[in-house]
Amino acid sequence: MNIETAVGNTPMVNIGRIYAKLEYLNPSGSIKDRAVKAILSNAEAKGLLTRGMTLVECSSGNTGVSMAMLGAKKNYGTICIVPKTTSIVKIKLMQLYGCGIIYVKNMKEGLELLNKSFSDKEKYYRLHQFEDIYNVHGQENMAIEAYIQMHPHLPDAVVAGMGTGGTLRALDNVFRVLNPSIKLFTVRAGQRGIEGICDGIDLHLSPTYEPKEVEVSHSTAVCSAKVLAKNYGINAGLSSGANFYVAKIVARRYKRVLTVFPDNAMRYLNELSS
Ligand SMILES: Cc1ncc(COP(=O)(O)O)c(C=O)c1O
Repeated sequence: MNIETAVGNTPMVNIGRIYAKLEYLNPSGSIKDRAVKAILSNAEAKGLLTRGMTLVECSSGNTGVSMAMLGAKKNYGTICIVPKTTSIVKIKLMQLYGCGIIYVKNMKEGLELLNKSFSDKEKYYRLHQFEDIYNVHGQENMAIEAYIQMHPHLPDAVVAGMGTGGTLRALDNVFRVLNPSIKLFTVRAGQRGIEGICDGIDLHLSPTYEPKEVEVSHSTAVCSAKVLAKNYGINAGLSSGANFYVAKIVARRYKRVLTVFPDNAMRYLNELSS
């Protein structure tokens, strides 16, 4: 086993009617290890990513950490362009894996810099997580594991916050064929936002199955993550808290609700310990 093969096979816990995949137990601490692993493996198989190239991405979050971890394992240089608002814990983690950091004002400036300075396709490999369907394929492995772990039962509803939409699309892809009436729910972050959940266009979302949105404020996500830690010993982050909050509402109506806990509490200790 090496650290790349340690991605996936995460446990599932159930809290009453809620079944949660503990994705924060992936090697770099988040669900994004699956997406980045699948994106890189596909690029290598197609010859788009070869020895000596540098991985580069504009990310304020877990994708950058996963890229840094897998880049270190696979001997690629890594550069992450990060908006100034990026949490210091994630930046330090990326640096620990040897990733170079370039600070920009915001994502828009980051994307401009990517296009201007990293367009040489022989030198740099960009992850394009919003567009690359292998993001979804990576998460489909997670959905298949969930299917096996819930067997012989199937979920009636699924809850997942959306960043790229990869997680929700993958769950839909796997479970809709098994249970065509499955319901999808997602998180709409309040004004202050919740890291990992964005209001962007979710290119990965299937146009046929729009999820129902439930608004969750930042403070509700914090309270809910604290409940996970204090009542259940689950060390999960803020989007997990938000997913848990929505899953509890959904579980009043549906018998089995599948959700994910995308990253760990260590990334948000400042907010969770106050
Ligand atoms: C903490 C966290 N929660 C949720 C998500 C959403 O996942 P997806 O991009 O698959 O929609 C992400 C994505 O980066 C994340 O980092």
